[in-house]
Amino acid sequence: MERTLSIIKPDAVAKGVIGKILDRFESNGLKIAASKKLQLSRMDAEAFYAVHSERPFFNDLVDFMISGPVVVSVLEGEDAMSKNRKLMGATNPKEAEAGTIRADFAENIDANAVHGSDSVENAAVEIAFFFSGREIS
Ligand code: CMP
Repeated sequence: MERTLSIIKPDAVAKGVIGKILDRFESNGLKIAASKKLQLSRMDAEAFYAVHSERPFFNDLVDFMISGPVVVSVLEGEDAMSKNRKLMGATNPKEAEAGTIRADFAENIDANAVHGSDSVENAAVEIAFFFSGREIS
């Protein structure tokens, strides 16, 4: 049993595909152990993506992530981290395999519909960033 963090980004929330994306998780054996919709502050987004702070796309990434509400969820199941990343598809939707969330719902590498933790270790940090223990079940 493993947990990972998912973010449905502002582009997908604005498009009205929260339910369709959550259904991909549930239909593929991932349980939604916690979920909430929220508006990130600039400080939230900068802190969450601090690992990318030296990358040239950092400012655009932060601007995009605060451009509208997001839905953050804890997904739980066997191999949840890698299963979620398979369901999401490649970071750049142009390279994402057909049938993946990014191929179906994303526009470009910034507005790419979803974020998912990239390791089990990062998942624990990212889950703790958004959720207290009693919010997850
Ligand atoms: P995400 O999985 O949320 O992690 C960091 C985000 O930065 C990534 O998805 C993309 O939306 C965004 N990004 C923009 N440009 C790049 C790039 N060249 N490489 C990786 N991520 C990028």
